[in-house]
Amino acid sequence: MNPSEKSQGTTKASVRIPGDQVKVAVQSRGGVVLTSDDRGAARVLSIRTDEDTGIVFVKLETRERIVDVAIYEEEGKLQANVDGLTFPVEAWPARLPELLTAWQLRNQDEHGDVVVKAPLTGVVRDVLIKKGQELKEGDPCVVIEAMKMENILPAPHDGKVKKISIKTDASVRPGEPLFELEVQRDESAVSEEIEEIPHLPGGRLLTARERVEHLFDPGSFREIDAHVRHRVSDFGLDRRDIPGDGVICGYGKVDGRTVYAYSQDFRALGGSLGEMHARKICKVLDLATQSGHPVVGIHDSGGARIQEGVLSLAGYGDIFLRVVKASGIIPQIACILGPSAGGAVYSPAMMDFVVMTESNSNMFLTGPRVVKTVTFEDITADELGGGRVHGEITGVAHVLSPNEAEALQSTRRLISYLPNRSGEPAPRGPKFDPADRSTPNLVNLVPDDTAQAYDCREVIRQVFDHGSFFEIHERFAPNLVVGMARLAGTTVGVVANQPAHLAGCLDSTASRKGARFIRFCDAFSIPIISLVDVPGFMPGREQEHGGVISHGAKLLYAYCESSVPKLSVIVRKAYGGAYIVMSSKHIGGDLNFSWPDAEIAVMGAKGAVEILHRRDLAQHGAESEEIKDHIDAYENKFLTPNIASAHGFIDRVIDPQETRVALTEGLAAMKHLKKTGPDRVHGNMPT
Ligand code: HXC
Repeated sequence: MNPSEKSQGTTKASVRIPGDQVKVAVQSRGGVVLTSDDRGAARVLSIRTDEDTGIVFVKLETRERIVDVAIYEEEGKLQANVDGLTFPVEAWPARLPELLTAWQLRNQDEHGDVVVKAPLTGVVRDVLIKKGQELKEGDPCVVIEAMKMENILPAPHDGKVKKISIKTDASVRPGEPLFELEVQRDESAVSEEIEEIPHLPGGRLLTARERVEHLFDPGSFREIDAHVRHRVSDFGLDRRDIPGDGVICGYGKVDGRTVYAYSQDFRALGGSLGEMHARKICKVLDLATQSGHPVVGIHDSGGARIQEGVLSLAGYGDIFLRVVKASGIIPQIACILGPSAGGAVYSPAMMDFVVMTESNSNMFLTGPRVVKTVTFEDITADELGGGRVHGEITGVAHVLSPNEAEALQSTRRLISYLPNRSGEPAPRGPKFDPADRSTPNLVNLVPDDTAQAYDCREVIRQVFDHGSFFEIHERFAPNLVVGMARLAGTTVGVVANQPAHLAGCLDSTASRKGARFIRFCDAFSIPIISLVDVPGFMPGREQEHGGVISHGAKLLYAYCESSVPKLSVIVRKAYGGAYIVMSSKHIGGDLNFSWPDAEIAVMGAKGAVEILHRRDLAQHGAESEEIKDHIDAYENKFLTPNIASAHGFIDRVIDPQETRVALTEGLAAMKHLKKTGPDRVHGNMPT
């Protein structure tokens, strides 16, 4: 913010969120304020200023979701960050009373009446309205003294005063109801609006074209092959004109960067894939791969178009081949916003990320009707392959969103972390969070007792750039947390053991999850940062029979194989095989840090003493002095990072408060790291 703007006291941020134009009013010097869009569609849930950094965090509720906005100053300009994307903030010399009009935090109750709430902390100096009074929009209603000014709150709508909740001299806080307005509505306008909404089948909220519009920056989408038609004459299809053969293809901008996309239209023969439909998708995949830009597939399809027989099957084959050939060259993201049945499941499954919605999004090889015929099992589409099934059980879905708009917004956000193509650096994020910020809270966040749980996501939030963590596979294998984040603006992949689930043990599913994520990061030159607090691999029949040897080997293989910078911090413990697997020096870790009290050993002291001193245990009992002495001796000898650092397996023992600084500096020191792999076609990763 430049000095002249500062002296004006208040600035307006204009932040675009698809579907909503949210205006954020910010007072200079951090004493923030509020927001609302012109239609009252967004309201402020909370506003907080970080005292250390001066960043203003605003939580907004829009019609579609809750949005976090971070507002900060960068290179003399005010910026707003939403979902990892940065928007400029326009300077606006506003007078406070005018702002208050926009500030009115309006809520509509079930009758459509409006509750006018206090926009800020203050004292009511005058109530200018009476119950039953008819008001015109803009009529003065309440005078609030705040910020040493008397501010008049006008009526946000025409209407009749239904209830007054405050009295003169009462103190009010932001969001506190002031009065209610019974709104007189123009019924004809309402019914006109309703009639305009197109009827979409199966609970869909957006058409294929609206989905594309949500994905891209406004007005940036350019369609290709809009005039393509199918070439089938059987089954009466010669009399059926299907615009674009049921799929919208083209390219546009996501946060200013070129991205290719296709979007299937379920209204056209169930989004089914025929010869020309497939050919259009192949063209998009070819163009994206050859020009080196990410591709997003918006899937909503009943699978191979039955009427086109082998031509549809051939179309799938052509797509599969291209998806595999593009793998590791450009980021590929599939958004499943309807059914994805039959052949339609395999191209998403081979892409880098699958985004699903919690309902109205299914993936299955054979649909419920075929299942019923073959196995007599009654099962719904959601039970068979809904978002929750794939987000929690199978791991096919990497991101689960509550609705279509949010799925597309998540896709935009995901793209913001990724390079356009392999070999190119990921775009730099905002640098508003100081690289040298210390992390004092970590000391209390991680309990000393190694058996005590804590949420490693809190540690991640403290260490990486504010608000930058984008979790992948949030509900699948929660004992390992993975996701994209930024460190001083640089995209990194985070892998962290999660003591809050299964004590942070590694198991089959966590290993699969970690391996896939690490391989993605490696393919796209994204450094990997591992936060280690792991008691080992999960023991037991279920794991052994479930293939933990092969699955655990995948994680090990992925770490060993990767050639990107790998940094790690052992924050509390690293035992046994899991110590080796979690980015240790022995398997190619580049910079390995440890906190001073970390325990690095074959196993915990109690377990070790039970094996080594079985006879003493039998003779004296677990609570005896002898056993306590053995435990102390083991702890002093092995449960420290000293031996590992004496051998160079740990490069630096760092103060927890310096974790962010150490990682930021380490990452910078690794910037030009180059490792060449062995000369071979490819390795043979365990499956
Ligand atoms: C042609 C199809 C179609 C298909 C749906 N439709 N799937 N048309 N080929 N594969 C048409 C329907 O006839 C209907 O047309 C319209 O799309 C909407 O379908 P509904 O069934 O009414 O919708 P809904 O109840 O929402 O059910 C959606 C569905 C269901 C779950 C996707 O349609 C379904 O089960 N379809 C078949 C799924 C499937 O088994 N596909 C596998 C294909 S074989 P009208 O004109 O009535 O509106 C395959 C093999 C490839 O893909 C293997 C490669 C490895």
